[in-house]
Amino acid sequence: AAWEKQVRLSSTPRRTNGFSVLVTGAAGFVGSHCSLALKKRGDGVLGLDNFNNYYDPSLKRARQNLLSKHQVFIVEGDLNDGPLLTKLFDVVPFTHVLHLAAQAGVRYAMQNPQSYISSNIAGFVNLLEVAKAANPQPSIVWASSSSVYGLNTENPFSERDRTDQPASLYAATKKAGEEIAHTYNHIYGLSLTGLRFFTVYGPWGRPDMAYFFFTKDILQGKSIDIYKTHDQKEVARDFTYIDDVVKGCLGALNTAEKSTGSGGKKKGAAQLRVYNLGNTSPVPVGRLVSILEGLLSKKAKKHVITMPRNGDVPFTHANVTLAFKDFGYKPTTDLSTGLRKFVKWYISFYGIQSKTRKESQATGESG
Ligand code: NAD
Ligand code: UGA
Repeated sequence: AAWEKQVRLSSTPRRTNGFSVLVTGAAGFVGSHCSLALKKRGDGVLGLDNFNNYYDPSLKRARQNLLSKHQVFIVEGDLNDGPLLTKLFDVVPFTHVLHLAAQAGVRYAMQNPQSYISSNIAGFVNLLEVAKAANPQPSIVWASSSSVYGLNTENPFSERDRTDQPASLYAATKKAGEEIAHTYNHIYGLSLTGLRFFTVYGPWGRPDMAYFFFTKDILQGKSIDIYKTHDQKEVARDFTYIDDVVKGCLGALNTAEKSTGSGGKKKGAAQLRVYNLGNTSPVPVGRLVSILEGLLSKKAKKHVITMPRNGDVPFTHANVTLAFKDFGYKPTTDLSTGLRKFVKWYISFYGIQSKTRKESQATGESG
């Protein structure tokens, strides 16, 4: 009963016609930022997260603490827990789902392929099954990925470019998610909007991503590996700042059509939409490193590896015309500005000596 009360309180909007949003992956990087932004504008937000230990769960707990200060409650549970999801939809008439929970990361798929199948495919289907049976049926906005463009060499990537050359199992599961979304839209009339994020970075970011552990390793004087493409060029990414991505997610939610429950057979049924949310200016990894060196006033010990990393794509570059046209998406933060904000957060969170909290605990240090 206390649990139900918390669930209701957290998900009740505070503004007229406010949304009631289930945010999956709310203890994650993008999910925690979006949850706060939605709450701040008066929407009701309920989080769901399984707090898995793919990366340091204490960072997820710290994000949860921040959210709880803003009256956002996170239910601890798994996407694959059907009865739990059904119960949440029984208690709350969610208008929207912002589905961000997934097994992220490109390289880890070589170590633990099943975790990608379980969260990104089975878990997504489970969520869609529950959403389709819910009354009202929510509109769903979910995270796809720039990785669906795979080894495509069009430059920049547009939504209708080919996505049939995934370079990693992660990419393949994100691509599968788009196909699965299409079928649930077609058969059950669920409103589904996929967002292809491009290497998102910023405060409260993910420790498994290069910009994050490069910062840590530079501060600790450890060497960093910099990979090249097959033809010895620099790898480049369309690094996108978190606040821009949050605006894109909110814009996509605002313009999401209503689910119709009637599928593609009916005229005017909800469309399946897919958008790029990138920064539109790719930056070579070497440049990322030199910006960090400047911000940290410390030289990196660079170890250049003359081959690509397994599963990596040579570059990413978004065309965001469609997202601009449909919901005014316009990235405004360049990489130097965004990294400055990240580094400021990083140092305030971990300190300059910059061991992770877990490592500090393991060695019995405090602070
Ligand atoms: P993240 O790992 O920080 O967040 C995902 C959260 O989902 C985590 O807190 C995790 O505990 C939770 N989770 C994972 N599997 C779950 C399950 N089965 N049940 C319940 N919770 C589960 O990652 P992020 O960077 O915030 O990414 C958010 C979404 O955006 C993901 O779908 C990711 O694939 C996608 N994406 C991210 C980026 C990026 O650069 N950050 C780029 C493209 C796409
Ligand atoms: C990131 C996220 O990790 C994925 O979850 C997401 O789906 C993807 O963006 C996306 O845009 O879809 P990635 O761009 O590979 O994937 O992010 P990082 O692992 O942080 O790598 C960024 C760049 O740094 C890559 O070019 C990689 O080659 C390079 N890198 C990475 C190195 O040079 N050295 C390293 O040790 C690690």
